[in-house]
Amino acid sequence: MEERIISDVLTKPDVALELTLRPSLFSDFTGQAKVKERLEITVQAAKQRGEALDHILLSGPPGLGKTTLANILAKSMGTNLKSTSGPTIEKAGDLAGLLTNLQEGDVLFIDEIHRLQKTIEEYLYPAMEDFKLDIIIDSGPNARSVRLNLPRFTLIGATTRSGLLTAPLLTRFPVRERLDYYQAEQLKTIVIRAARLLNIEMDETGAMEIARRSRGTPRIANNLIRRVRDYAQVRSDGRVTAAIADQALAMLEIDENGLDEMDKRILEAIIIKFGGGPVGVNSLAVAVGEEPDTIEEVYEPYLIMEGYLKRTNQGRVATELSYKKIGIQPPPSGNQQGLF
Ligand SMILES: Nc1ncnc2c1ncn2[C@@H]1O[C@H](COP(=O)(O)OP(=O)(O)O)[C@@H](O)[C@H]1O
Ligand SMILES: [Mg+2]
Repeated sequence: MEERIISDVLTKPDVALELTLRPSLFSDFTGQAKVKERLEITVQAAKQRGEALDHILLSGPPGLGKTTLANILAKSMGTNLKSTSGPTIEKAGDLAGLLTNLQEGDVLFIDEIHRLQKTIEEYLYPAMEDFKLDIIIDSGPNARSVRLNLPRFTLIGATTRSGLLTAPLLTRFPVRERLDYYQAEQLKTIVIRAARLLNIEMDETGAMEIARRSRGTPRIANNLIRRVRDYAQVRSDGRVTAAIADQALAMLEIDENGLDEMDKRILEAIIIKFGGGPVGVNSLAVAVGEEPDTIEEVYEPYLIMEGYLKRTNQGRVATELSYKKIGIQPPPSGNQQGLF
């Protein structure tokens, strides 16, 4: 079961690592305190009433723990989790297959639920609300609609773009939680746990250095830990200290604020090629050679949160901080938007 969950959902190559490091209990899940508290209450209440969990939508940038939480939720309810993703459900029949194979209380996890086709979405509404599925069988003159009764299941949807969800779908999730980037202190706890699980000798300052430079993202922290370990092993005695972590991260071109090559390329493009902005995401994407979706889902949210970028109606605009980061004197009159 576990293996299926991971392989279905994970697009990243490192399946084994994710399996080792993914917390399976609320108590191992660090950070997101408010989200965690609300979800734990929902679980406990449902269990006390002997009911299935309400449908839950988890949103937020990649790598923050949406899939992890879905697994924790199913486990804490003592139910199975069946996992799929929006783009892989191509026909109504695919959805019918998934739904009719569920048992009472099971969790159906739909990753990237914003990429579900609209026609499929419409089948989902009565399934979520009334646990009924109306499907058409046969075609031509024999076509007829059949109503199937479904077990009381829980839909957990995950999305990096809750803004792209249609209102009817959004409102059918009674529980909606947004995950935020982690504080360095919380990431440090996650890094220390991962180092222990991977048998890496690491002191607290080393853990903090990695935590500070992981873009607030546990998945990135988990990946950096191993790169830093490799460096420590080859260039030193294997022990990860702040100095070793710093050297390793510098070698990986991750700067002291955790920005990577692409982050800097984006800021440079806005400032140098587009005069500080505003620039639309498509032009920006072409300039840096990345997909517009990736820029919007992966890079921008962090740059905006950290104050390097602003999003206006006209497009993306550089801030004073990003001029400093690139090492260019900001225009004395502020940029074209007059934001500073
Ligand atoms: N709160 C957390 N505490 C510890 N590890 C976490 C936490 N959130 C995420 N992780 C780690 O980060 C990895 C990526 O999380 P995942 O749930 O796959 O992110 P998402 O589904 O949001 O993209 C997991 O395998 C897990 O090891
Ligand atoms: Mg995921």
